[in-house]
Amino acid sequence: MTQSYHIVGLTGSLRKASMNKTLLKNAALFLPENFTYTYADLGELPLYNQDLEEDLPESVKQFAELCSSADGFLISTPEFNGLITGVLKNALDWVSRKNIGAPLATKPVAIMGATTGPGGTARAQTNLRQLIFALDMDPVNRPELKLSQAHMKFDDEGRLSDFATLQVLQQLMDKFVHKVERSKE
Ligand SMILES: Cc1cc2nc3c(=O)[nH]c(=O)nc-3n(C[C@H](O)[C@H](O)[C@H](O)COP(=O)(O)O)c2cc1C
Repeated sequence: MTQSYHIVGLTGSLRKASMNKTLLKNAALFLPENFTYTYADLGELPLYNQDLEEDLPESVKQFAELCSSADGFLISTPEFNGLITGVLKNALDWVSRKNIGAPLATKPVAIMGATTGPGGTARAQTNLRQLIFALDMDPVNRPELKLSQAHMKFDDEGRLSDFATLQVLQQLMDKFVHKVERSKE
């Protein structure tokens, strides 16, 4: 029987038209048929507060369950003032906690990021890699997917139309899929 895998996508943007969310959708298209993909909406999570751990909010429980069900993660990060956004940091802080099962630890993750600016979220991704290390996740190190001037690189249907970026995304996703499969052997 073919093994199936579940991938969860995260981004630190809450915008309806988020280019990072669109980039995740494009990345998910590279997943094989035996992989399922769920986009996690981080907008309902309260700000992390240790006092809330005594009686976890429903949104946190649901997010923790979603993360527990994941065999791997795709994270597309916006860059706000040179760093990842508070939205993403808040969500990852919640699920870093051992008493809610630390459902990210040791799991494969592929990271990417999209920005209207020229830097392609390079600074935010460096920041995110530090966090991934702290969370004990297992990142794909290369290639790095830094989508600059992203507003010019999708067509009207939200498909990536930039050939060079598509090639990098293909390479990144191949390595990610391989890592997820290996992690379950
Ligand atoms: C508060 C704020 C700070 C920003 N800082 C940066 C930055 O440091 N570097 C950068 O490349 N883009 C920066 N941007 C532009 C974002 O990359 C751009 O808004 C992008 O579209 C956000 O991602 P999204 O489309 O997924 O929402 C900033 C935007 C905002 C709102």
